[in-house]
Amino acid sequence: MLKRYLLTPGPTPVPPEVLLRMSQPLIHHRTPEFSQLFSEVQEGLQWLYQTAQDVLILAASGTGAMEAAVTNTCTAGDTVIVVNGGKFGERWVKICQAFGVKVVEIKVEWGRAVTVEAVTQALHGHPEAKTVLLQASETSTTVLHPVREIAALTRKTEVLLIVDGITAVGATEIPMDHWGIDILVTGSQKALMLPPGLAFLSLNAKAWSRVEAATLPRFYFDLRRERKEQQKRTTAYTPAISLIYGLHEVLRLLRAEGLEHVFARHARLAAATRAAMHALGMRLLAPGHPSPAATGVWLPSQIDGSRLLTYMRDRMGVDIAGGQDHLKGKVARISHIGYAGPFDVITAVSTLEMALSRYGCELQLGSGVRAAEEVLLDGWPLPG
Ligand SMILES: Cc1ncc(COP(=O)(O)O)c(C=O)c1O
Repeated sequence: MLKRYLLTPGPTPVPPEVLLRMSQPLIHHRTPEFSQLFSEVQEGLQWLYQTAQDVLILAASGTGAMEAAVTNTCTAGDTVIVVNGGKFGERWVKICQAFGVKVVEIKVEWGRAVTVEAVTQALHGHPEAKTVLLQASETSTTVLHPVREIAALTRKTEVLLIVDGITAVGATEIPMDHWGIDILVTGSQKALMLPPGLAFLSLNAKAWSRVEAATLPRFYFDLRRERKEQQKRTTAYTPAISLIYGLHEVLRLLRAEGLEHVFARHARLAAATRAAMHALGMRLLAPGHPSPAATGVWLPSQIDGSRLLTYMRDRMGVDIAGGQDHLKGKVARISHIGYAGPFDVITAVSTLEMALSRYGCELQLGSGVRAAEEVLLDGWPLPG
């Protein structure tokens, strides 16, 4: 038997309490019992988003909420600015283009964060641009973009700021109202510790006024209809009832831990992973602005990274992510988002050390683990 560990940045492991909660018999969604559950979940999501706005729940993967954000706020022929520094920045571009929205791309080298100056310049160079879209955490490159500073540029203007927080919400500070983010999107299979299948987004008053004016076609993702129903504590269409049960339990767990502690845990696990990579002499993919969701690292150039990761998954039982597009085979991404603790980091680092050793790389076994332990021990309470 091979014991398996899922250490990819989505899907992520689901806590046993949540699995149990999701296995309870179904109830009908047009009942007082469901409405009660739904309203508690809605309130919990507002706590998580740090917003007074409604947080809408959609039965979709994260991309569904990204599409909804675009189709509900744009009109064909509009110009928008997209920060494209990875696979998911590219996804904003593709969604906008699929609906006839003109895209001004700010291309960012994979592994780097966008600069505030680049966004300022794009806004000045394209006064016709109505919206800025970006990721908070670009999972494909493990970069954290400066959302707070970019929101400071847009919040006093007519320009809308749409943020993909799919690997940021619940992993790092991203208070929607305080920073002035107009639309914040997330998904269930990351920091929310659920299986894939739910997507979330919240819109502020500025965004809702855009919804009224926008003319792109929409049906399933018509947020006007969804908001009307969700304000009545139900959904427009059949909700993913079992996942909403699970979400109720997840929000209970997160509230018991406390948001600050949840963020501190992610930061500590990320710091430990980075320390381990340094100790192993490996270069980080995003040294300047690393994400707390996952740590990307360049693999030694002499080895085929795809084969190494397949070996780790199939022979050692540990599934970490590789690179996408031109980074395929060249980088590894170790996840520490969601239901993750110190021994997930130790497991990932130890497996990587052993696999690299098997592939003939010269390294001192245990050196990465030791560096990670030193960081982790720092955050551990003293006995007694
Ligand atoms: C930052 C980011 N945006 C968008 C997505 C796409 O979400 P989904 O695959 O749930 O549609 C992901 C998924 O990994 C992501 O990490």
